[in-house]
Amino acid sequence: MADKFYITTPLYYVNASPHIGHSYTNIIVDSIARFKRLKGLEVFFLTGTDEHGLKVKQASEANNLNPKEFVDRLVPQFKALWEKLNISYDDFIRTTEDRHKETVRKILGILYEKGDIYLGDYRGFYCTPCETFWTNMQLKEKICPECKRPLEEISEKNYFFKLSKYQGWLIEYISENPKFIQPSFRTNEVLAFLKEPLGDLCISRPISRLTWGIPLPFSDDHVTYVWFDALINYASGAGFLTDTARFSKLWPADIHMIGKDILRPHCVYWPIMLKALEVDMPRMVFAHGWWLEGGEKMSKSRGNIIDPVYMIDKYGADAYRYFLLREVSLGSDGVFSEHKLKTRINSDLANDLGNLLNRTLGMVELYFGSRLPYPDKYSDYDATLKEHAITIWKGYDALMEDLKLNEAIAHIWELINFANKYIEESKPWILAKQKDKRLNTVIYNLVEVLRIAGISIWPFMPVTAESIFGQLGLEKKFRFSDLKEWGLSKPGVSVNKGNPIFPRIE
Ligand code: MSP
Repeated sequence: MADKFYITTPLYYVNASPHIGHSYTNIIVDSIARFKRLKGLEVFFLTGTDEHGLKVKQASEANNLNPKEFVDRLVPQFKALWEKLNISYDDFIRTTEDRHKETVRKILGILYEKGDIYLGDYRGFYCTPCETFWTNMQLKEKICPECKRPLEEISEKNYFFKLSKYQGWLIEYISENPKFIQPSFRTNEVLAFLKEPLGDLCISRPISRLTWGIPLPFSDDHVTYVWFDALINYASGAGFLTDTARFSKLWPADIHMIGKDILRPHCVYWPIMLKALEVDMPRMVFAHGWWLEGGEKMSKSRGNIIDPVYMIDKYGADAYRYFLLREVSLGSDGVFSEHKLKTRINSDLANDLGNLLNRTLGMVELYFGSRLPYPDKYSDYDATLKEHAITIWKGYDALMEDLKLNEAIAHIWELINFANKYIEESKPWILAKQKDKRLNTVIYNLVEVLRIAGISIWPFMPVTAESIFGQLGLEKKFRFSDLKEWGLSKPGVSVNKGNPIFPRIE
């Protein structure tokens, strides 16, 4: 049986329409998931929506709807965006679904029985936009340290989860598993945070203040804190406590992909919740950077968002995916601009990749009546291109396994650029005039390079890869092992030169 690979995205808050930041995480995860499928792994890719809590409640009120009606209207927008972007998720979990609520309540029950949850007095400051409590200890002024907005002072009876009991264990676990939190500088960030005593986590909200949440199984007066509820999706979506066979097959998750803004819940709360439940740790939590607009994080609460649907309709899903993945390394911040997007489309996609396909197929049409010729003898130069093409899988594989997606793309582009240079230097138009048989080799080589490029870009730009395969007359099956083989393009096959895959944008 193939190895499994379980990868997740955060669950997006459904308090407004999805934006570029959300699409970024899903595009990253989709590319990794597709890459693993290319390699033959049995992938489980989970995404979904985070639907409880004050933020969603307030947004629903602002729209004069009850929270359930409100989220029911928004969820289709997320799903529609994922469809537009060809996000190949295997499951979509909503925190309002019974399968999730059941697991949350069972987990709460277990931890309560175990004595890891207790009733206490809560006094502190609450930031509604961030859904975060801040205690006096952490505060110099009554302003949210994260979003810099005013905090609300609160005092009430609430339930707490004993984070403090597990702090020593967590420090040791993170220190001993340097791959657990990635990129590695984030490990240091979490360890630095853990140098201060960890307060217990308030995991309930009194229904007098908030009803829109999962009721606690041991109190009629409280609902579950939205973060405690939402994190559990990674387990409930895999069948924890509801489908044991499925869970034991899928767990541990291989990668939780998140944005750097939600490092603490994923690297402190979640591991401790799992430890308390005696469940294995996920293999990796990877925090990617932010897309900035005007020097700030793009976000709904800041009101500086760029609409992904507008960009996709204008430039196409694959160009949009390509830009986000190619422009920055995973883990770093990026600045989004339409101008930069256009530049990338014109240079990398229209010029480098699009032209290579177009010129090559134009020559198959012109010189060989659209039928792929048999290659003739190989000159040293022909052999160099071939060698480059059948060995790119090595670097590509290593970079992808290391989650260096932008470098993996650059690695493929080295081959594409080599092939463009090969056309310039081999001058097929002169070979054709001279009736030189080397023309057959040159054309065949170029088609093979395009086949290999097509397979390697499939995880990032699936539609483009399929269209390249269609034009090359290949069956649209993408397999990693085919990268290592030369000669899979069949001489004699008819190619179907189409319109340029990426027309230049003026
Ligand atoms: N609901 C929580 C997550 C719960 S996971 C159990 C949440 N939701 S969110 O909708 O606010 O953001 C989710 C994710 O969207 C962030 O972690 C990040 O992956 C992504 N992004 C949101 N804004 C972003 C940018 N401006 N840039 C890049 N990604 C960002 O947090």
